[in-house]
Amino acid sequence: MKIAETVSELRHLTDLARKSGKKIGFVPTMGALHEGHISLVKKAKRQNPVVVVSIFVNPTQFNDKKDLEKYPRTLEADSKLLAPAGADILFFPSVSEVYPDGQDKGADIDLGGLDKHMEGAFRPGHFKGMAQVVKRLLDIVTPDRLYMGQKDFQQFTIVAHMIRSLGINTQLVVCPIKREHNGLAMSSRNERLSAETRGKAGIINRVMKAVKRDMYSKQVADLEKYAMKRLTVAPFEPEYFSIVDGYTLNPVTDMDKTPYVVACVAVWADGVRLIDNMILRKE
Ligand code: PAJ
Repeated sequence: MKIAETVSELRHLTDLARKSGKKIGFVPTMGALHEGHISLVKKAKRQNPVVVVSIFVNPTQFNDKKDLEKYPRTLEADSKLLAPAGADILFFPSVSEVYPDGQDKGADIDLGGLDKHMEGAFRPGHFKGMAQVVKRLLDIVTPDRLYMGQKDFQQFTIVAHMIRSLGINTQLVVCPIKREHNGLAMSSRNERLSAETRGKAGIINRVMKAVKRDMYSKQVADLEKYAMKRLTVAPFEPEYFSIVDGYTLNPVTDMDKTPYVVACVAVWADGVRLIDNMILRKE
């Protein structure tokens, strides 16, 4: 696995691949890699001879400075996981390499209103920063395919919108959520939970499953209320549990008239914010 720290080093490597006619798959990450990330890399490797993974803790998408400071940085362990998973090139740029003209440049991408609810409402500015960095990384890497996880449902929906509306020439491949044994969605932030909380955090998945089971026998508002109540159990504190249209991310009013329905949730525990989702129906 080659490591590129600058845009020109990265371009040199991708140019070589492209000149020999090889397709490029790209997995953007913020590091502290776990099996969820690695599943994206493996999928990319199955579909493309050359796989680029980026590790960049993007300051512009952190609305909470403390979260940015506390974000784990584990480059050595990450590199050890990436090479056997099939990564060919690791792009590990500095902030000034990604934002040579300052962090405001390119932060004005139209998100089509998809950032109104859920994460967008609780993390102001987060998706603007996320879209800004994904656009910038796509400009640098110019991959044939882009791999993102369903774990961040609103994130990939916004990226899909951006790709469409800006006419970016890449195919978005969305990969399923990898979970721990108890059902907790894998996340770099899980490391910051106590062992006890991490053990109990399977409740998030259990509640989503219960909602899916009852989705046709209860009203949407009642399902959401039920989920919030069940998740209000120490040390957990739910921020939202929203049943939304999987395309528009608007709240669902009539389950029967909505072909794509997703339950999205954010829960605090031990000062850590956990997010998860489950597709309730997709026709
Ligand atoms: P990060 O949180 O490091 O996640 C990188 C990618 O891994 C995202 O596409 C995310 O959805 C996926 N992922 C995370 N946990 C997963 C899991 N349990 N199962 C499957 N996929 C999972 O998301 C970001 O970084 C950043 O916002 C980024 C897109 C890199 C822009 O800075």
